[in-house]
Amino acid sequence: MCLLLCTCLGIQAQHKSGDMDRFIDDLMSRMTLEEKIGQLNLPVTGEIVTGQAQSSDIAGKITRGEVGGLFNLKGVGRIRDVQKLAIEKSRLGIPLIFGMDVIHGYETIFPIPLGMSCTWDMKAVEESARIGATEASADGISWTFSPMLDISRDPRWGRVSEGNGEDPYLAAEIARAMIRGYQGTDMSGNDEIMACMKHFALYGAPDAGRDYNTVDMSRNRMFNEYMLPYQAAVEAGVGSVMASFNEIDGLPASGNKWLLTDVLRTQWGFDGFVVSDFTGISEMVDHGMGDLQTVSALALNAGMDMDMVSNGFLGTLKQSIEEGKVSVETLDQACRRILEAKYKLGLFEDPYKYCDLTRPARQIFTPEHRQVARRIASESFVLLKNKDNLLPLQKKGTVTVVGPLANTRSNMPGTWSVAARLDDYPSVIEGMKEVLGNQVNVVYAKGSNLISDAAYEQRATMFGRSLHRDNRSNEELLREALVTAAQADVIVAALGESSEMTGESSSRTHLDLPDVQRHLLEELLKTGKPVVLVLFTGRPLTLTWEEEHVPAILNVWFGGSEAAYAIADVLFGDVNPSGKLTATFPKNVGQIPLYYNHKNTGRPLEEGKWFEKFRTSYLDVDNDPLYPFGYGLSYTSFDYSDIRLSSPVMSPGDDLQVTVTVTNTGKRDGAEVVQLYLRDLVGSITRPVKELKGFDKVVLQAGESREVTFRINTEMLKFYNYDLEFVYEPGEFDVMIGGNSRDLKKARFTLTH
Ligand code: BGC
Repeated sequence: MCLLLCTCLGIQAQHKSGDMDRFIDDLMSRMTLEEKIGQLNLPVTGEIVTGQAQSSDIAGKITRGEVGGLFNLKGVGRIRDVQKLAIEKSRLGIPLIFGMDVIHGYETIFPIPLGMSCTWDMKAVEESARIGATEASADGISWTFSPMLDISRDPRWGRVSEGNGEDPYLAAEIARAMIRGYQGTDMSGNDEIMACMKHFALYGAPDAGRDYNTVDMSRNRMFNEYMLPYQAAVEAGVGSVMASFNEIDGLPASGNKWLLTDVLRTQWGFDGFVVSDFTGISEMVDHGMGDLQTVSALALNAGMDMDMVSNGFLGTLKQSIEEGKVSVETLDQACRRILEAKYKLGLFEDPYKYCDLTRPARQIFTPEHRQVARRIASESFVLLKNKDNLLPLQKKGTVTVVGPLANTRSNMPGTWSVAARLDDYPSVIEGMKEVLGNQVNVVYAKGSNLISDAAYEQRATMFGRSLHRDNRSNEELLREALVTAAQADVIVAALGESSEMTGESSSRTHLDLPDVQRHLLEELLKTGKPVVLVLFTGRPLTLTWEEEHVPAILNVWFGGSEAAYAIADVLFGDVNPSGKLTATFPKNVGQIPLYYNHKNTGRPLEEGKWFEKFRTSYLDVDNDPLYPFGYGLSYTSFDYSDIRLSSPVMSPGDDLQVTVTVTNTGKRDGAEVVQLYLRDLVGSITRPVKELKGFDKVVLQAGESREVTFRINTEMLKFYNYDLEFVYEPGEFDVMIGGNSRDLKKARFTLTH
C-alpha cells in the first residue's frame, strides 16, 4: 500500500515537474535575449536602503522586461500595483518576485536570531518563521532573505546578532526549522514564501571581525566547522541561496565556481537559484577582479543567477555573449532557474497570489501573533547571574528603572527588522507598567546617554532608532538617577548596546559596556540597593567586571516587539528563564576567537590552570570564557545523574543509547536544555575537544526527575578527513552530557571496525 502510494506520488511529482519544464520551455522560446537577461536583474526599490545604491526608473525597466524581481518594497497595495505593471505592460507579462529581509519577524517581531537560537526550541523557531511568512505574504512578499546561517566565533563582527551562534550542529537544526516555517510543505499556500539561505559562504569569519573583510581558512575547517548549516538548508529544500560578500581562497564568493557550482550544486544537489548580495557582483571590481563586464561574466559563469543591485548582468551580459565570454546556454540556465522559482511559488498561475488586500488587517501584528512573540522572547533571555536568588523580584514596592535603553520603543525590535512599526512597541518601562498595574511603583530616570561620544552614538542609532540624546551633562543625568533611585526597593538598570550597535557594518573592537553606562552602574551599586542588570546586546560582551560586582544579570538580547512584556514576565517570576548561550562570552577581547569546540593542541593547558610556561595560555588572562557555550541559569536548579550506556562497545551500523536522569532540585518548575557532546579521542586528523551532537529541552516540575536518552549512530561520528571524505573512524569516543559545555558528565565507548 505504502509502496503504491509512494510510487504514485513520485509519478505525480514527475508529472508536475514535466508540466513545469514544458511551460518554461515554451515561455523561453518566446523570450528575447534582453528579456532573459532582465529576469536576472534584481533592483532595490529605493524605499528601504540597506546598501549604498538606489535604483531609478524602475517602472520603465519593468515594462521593458528588464526586471526579474524587486526587494524591500513594503505594502500589499504598492506591490500589487507594481505586479500589475509587469503583468499588463511588459511584453510577456512575466510576474515579478518580491523579496524582503524578513529576518526575525515582519511587524510582529521575534528576538534577533542570536537570541532566538538561545531558546534551543525548534518548535518556537519554526513558529516564528511561520508567523513571519504569514505576515510578510499578507503584505505581498513572496521571498525572504533568511535564514542567515553564517557560523561566527568573533563577537567583534556586528552580524553575529543575525546568526545562530558558534555551533554548526545547532545552526543546522535551526536552518531546517526556519525553512519549514517559511516554505511550508511546498510553497503552494499563499502564506508560504521562498526562503533564501545566506550568506554563502563563511561570511562570519572576517579577519579581525571587521565586516566585509577577507576570509581565509582551510578546507578542513570550512567543511568540519562552517558548512554544515548551509548544507542542511539545501537538504531541507531551500528555494534560493545568497552568495556572500567575502572572498574564499582568494576568489570572491560571487565569482567562485568551486563554491557556487561544484560544492553547492554538484556535491550537495541544490536546484534552486543563487542571488548575489547587495552589489556583490560589482564589488568584485574593488576586490580587483576586473571591470564590471568582466566580473559580471565571472559571476554568471560561476553559477550566479540573479544580480542584486549591481546592474552588471543587465548592463553587460549581452555584450559578453556577443564577444563569446558567456554562452547563451549559461544565460538560459540562470533564467530558467529564476522562472522555475516563480513557477514553484505559483506566480504564473496567479501573479496576485500574495496580493489579497484584505489580508493585512486580519493577519499582520495580530494579538495571537504578539502573544506567541511574547512567549518566545522570554524563552530567549539568558540569566547570566543571580546571586542569592535576587530574581525573581516581588510584585510590590518601588522599582527604579534606569538606563538609556529603558525608555526606547524603536530599539526594542533589534537590528534587521525592516518592516517594523518602530513607534508601536512598548519600551521597558511601558511594558513593565502595563504588566504590573498598580502592584509595583515603577519610576524611571535615564541616568546616562548611550555613549559619551555623541558622534559614536549617532553612528549607533541610525535608521530611525534614535535614543534621543540628552543634552544634560553626564553628572546631571547621573545625579537625577541617584535621586530617583533613593526611593527604590530595587534598581533595574537597562543598559547595553543600542540595536544598531550590531547588525551589518557594526563591528566593534571594545566589547565592554559603554563608558558612561559602566560609570552609572558603578554609582548605582554604591547605593547599596539591590541592582539587576537587564542587558541589551546583539553580541557577546565582555562582562568580567559586571560578573564580579552586579548581583543579577539578565541578558535580554533584543527580544522583539513584545520584549518589554517578556522582560516583566521574567523579572517578576511569571516565567522562569531557560535560555542558554549559543556563543561563548569571552573575558576580554584579546581572547577572541574563543569557542567551545576548539582543538586540544600539542601543548594543552591543564584544566583549571591559569598559566603554565610553554603551554598554550596567556600571561594576563586564563583560557576560560566568562560564560561558556550552552550556559544559562534558571530560577530552579537541575541535577544530572551519571551517564548510562546501553553498551561500552558500538559496532558500525548500530545505535548506542546514552541516558541520564535529570532532576529539578529547586522549588520552581523549569525547562532545562540537556546537551550531548562527543569527542573522538584519536583521529586521522586532529579532532575538537567536544562537539555538540544532540540536545533535548525538557520541562520539569519542581522535584521531578526524567530520564533523557540520546541515540548515537555512526552518522554522528563522521567528519571530513584530510582528503575531505566524510567518514567515521573506529576507536574510542567520550560522550558528555550536561546543562552547558563546561559542566558535563562523561562516559567512554569504543566504536569497533
Ligand atoms: C545584506 C543582506 C541583505 C541584503 C538585502 C545586504 O547588505 O548583506 O543580508 O539580505 O542587503 O537587503
